[in-house]
Amino acid sequence: MKSTISTSPIAGQKPGTSGLRKKTRIFMGHHYLENFIQSLFDVVGAEGKTFVLGGDGRYFNDRAAQVILRMAAANGAARVIVGQNAILSTPAASHLIRLNKTDGGIIMSASHNPGGPDEDFGVKFNMPNGGPAPEAVTEAMFARSCEISEYHIFEAEDVDLSRPGSHQLGGMRIDVTDPVADYADLMETLFDFNAIRALFKAGFRMRMDSMCAVTGPYAREIFETRLGAAPGTVINAEPLPDFGGMHPDPNPTWASDLMEEMMGENAPDFGAASDGDGDRNMVVGRGIYVSPSDSLAVLAANIHLAPGYKAGLKGVARSMPTSGAVDRVAAGLGVGAYETPTGWKFFGNLLDAGRVTICGEESFGTGSDHVREKDGLWAVLLWLNILAVRKESVSEILAAHFQKYGRNYYSRHDFEGVDSTRADQMFAALRERLKTLPGQTFAGLTVSEADDFAYHDPVDGSSSQKQGVRVIFGEGTRAVYRLSGTGTEGATLRLYLEAYSQGPDGLNEDPQSALADVIKAAHKIADIQGFTGRTSPDVIT
Ligand code: G1P
Ligand code: ZN
Repeated sequence: MKSTISTSPIAGQKPGTSGLRKKTRIFMGHHYLENFIQSLFDVVGAEGKTFVLGGDGRYFNDRAAQVILRMAAANGAARVIVGQNAILSTPAASHLIRLNKTDGGIIMSASHNPGGPDEDFGVKFNMPNGGPAPEAVTEAMFARSCEISEYHIFEAEDVDLSRPGSHQLGGMRIDVTDPVADYADLMETLFDFNAIRALFKAGFRMRMDSMCAVTGPYAREIFETRLGAAPGTVINAEPLPDFGGMHPDPNPTWASDLMEEMMGENAPDFGAASDGDGDRNMVVGRGIYVSPSDSLAVLAANIHLAPGYKAGLKGVARSMPTSGAVDRVAAGLGVGAYETPTGWKFFGNLLDAGRVTICGEESFGTGSDHVREKDGLWAVLLWLNILAVRKESVSEILAAHFQKYGRNYYSRHDFEGVDSTRADQMFAALRERLKTLPGQTFAGLTVSEADDFAYHDPVDGSSSQKQGVRVIFGEGTRAVYRLSGTGTEGATLRLYLEAYSQGPDGLNEDPQSALADVIKAAHKIADIQGFTGRTSPDVIT
């Protein structure tokens, strides 16, 4: 039976770059999820439509899925394709939206944020192209949430999502689907599975850390079952509601066990990890860490070795704070290179318009035109494909890359839980001084340019202002300042540091030493200590 429940607006239901992300208890609060989902359906329309639904398996994922299904039915949706146990990785959801030509999809995830009753939950909407809703849509949802007065929900028992099959909820059909199969099939069309299988057969050893998050079942099926990697290659392979108490963010800090193994004596040939919802990846060779910006550049330079990309690249895109390493590859290949604001959604238009094939962010996100999200396992498979064809180690491939293109030393320093007002004051002061910076010298580095990054989308003509402050000290050396848009507590200051070296000497320095002067200059310019009280970052990647 369909019910209409009267409600009233709840403050702050404003989706950010990755949907609406809040503490789980807030989401579980009275009418909170319902209000947001109704606002979403009011904006995108549900009548007669088909959606994909799934999430990363975090705490409340299962309950939220039942609510969303009942609301979709009450709002007149025709069909929902839902992952078994309400599980879908973000890239797999993007693929299902595209494969089934649906009217979009709802993904329940707070990405790499920890899960549990006292941690984070999130909901985001993806468009029919498989990519995150653009700002105009999320703004409309927010506006709607400020005036909501009722929501519609079907009164019914829980739908059995524990096995594949079809159900009827009022006038709506629900198809419970294996979350892995279609995605794994897509990967088989892109990569040389025979070559990778032969690599494993010849004794190549890999460690995949799924961090008790969503990629476990995908990684097991793809690496162990389809590619023949040794059983046990995938660890932390069971998605758990609290991610086993881990912080499912694949970086050297949070995936420290993997780092330790890869730097240790009996290290496997190749290591990788992925995040809560499976869109991020970290790649490590035996004894060598690959920074996401370098990974993007190496993947771009070698992508033609994978069958799905043998025609080569149309172009590349990276977020502004990502290092310029991939630009050098694009220049070498004579293809376009685009610099976009932080957030995957800015790549969507470029991918849809066929201007770029591969894109990436320094925040462990890499992807291509096969879906409209970043894709962790895709990146890992592309690395495997390259390793299988080149028959060289990760460190040999990196060394050759730096030799050819030079090296963009790179690091990101995060200052977490900063007082928001002080952080805003720091940015206001920095922005005020931008025009006066060129010509001034800090820690021996002279500023050549300074600006507040603005982006003009070449496809739809839209523009985005204030996307991060850039201070440039000549070719390839710079500091970038941004405030995180995805945090749920206080402000997080991100400081991105880059220094280019052409080599041949100095290509093997430790990034923190190579960047020492840039770090000093960046602290001085913004008076980070004066405004935030911090002298050193909480997380270095
Ligand atoms: C962070 C990353 C950004 C990424 C986003 C979603 O956003 O820095 O690159 O697109 O998560 O995964 P931020 O917290 O910096 O706004
Ligand atoms: Zn994620």
